[in-house]
Amino acid sequence: MNRKYRKTIIAGNWKMNKTPAQTKKMFEELKAKVGKQKWCDVVLCVPFVDIPAACKASRDAKIAVAAQNMHFEESGAYTGEVSAEMLSELGVKYVIIGHSERREYYGETDKTVNLKVKKALEAGLRPIICVGETLEQREFDVTAEHIAMQVKIALNDVPAEKMRKIVFAYEPIWAIGTGKTATAEQAAEVCGHIRAVIRAKYGARIARAVTIQYGGSMNAKNASELLAQSDVDGGLIGGASLKTEDFAAIINAANQ
Ligand code: 13P
Repeated sequence: MNRKYRKTIIAGNWKMNKTPAQTKKMFEELKAKVGKQKWCDVVLCVPFVDIPAACKASRDAKIAVAAQNMHFEESGAYTGEVSAEMLSELGVKYVIIGHSERREYYGETDKTVNLKVKKALEAGLRPIICVGETLEQREFDVTAEHIAMQVKIALNDVPAEKMRKIVFAYEPIWAIGTGKTATAEQAAEVCGHIRAVIRAKYGARIARAVTIQYGGSMNAKNASELLAQSDVDGGLIGGASLKTEDFAAIINAANQ
């Protein structure tokens, strides 16, 4: 974290978990536990159908609601898809773009990520752009090249004045849902690299203001060490965001 230059953001990614009733319950529990956070913003990325319940329950809490995906077109014949404008009208503030599960199972590419980022910004949503390498890429020592390519393509044609809306999440694919967390040094190295790629394109002033999260088996035990790294500005948390106690503990770690 570096509280002087950028906001710490703790975001839970529920993936395909919880019904609207379960959403209401967890927001209420969380509100009672965490109160108003001084040092970090709290975000919950919920399934589409849970968004109205989440927005309603978050009204008097400092918890922002996010979607987990969106389409890059404004409207049209895209059965089953949801647009940025639809999300924004419901009160959604952030949207995850290019999560590795979407890249792997639903054919998302760096190019569609870029189209979605631009459309999200147009609709006033803050994109949380996910990047990360496979275990094979790490073993072949091409992590830096792979991440640089993902970051550069995601930001293609994104103007400098929109960069304060952008959030990155470094999620090494080998660490997602596996219980294998990147070491604090590995997380710091790649988050620092993402910032360097942004710096090369937009300059130091803009780069130092971008929030870059770590994600991949982050939990109440390892959060403090990861967040102690100056380039790790928060977390995108899967499994540990599903239980109030666990998620609240991570939020508290970010507020120490
Ligand atoms: P886990 O925290 O369950 O490893 O998931 C990380 C993730 O993919 C968040 O988007």
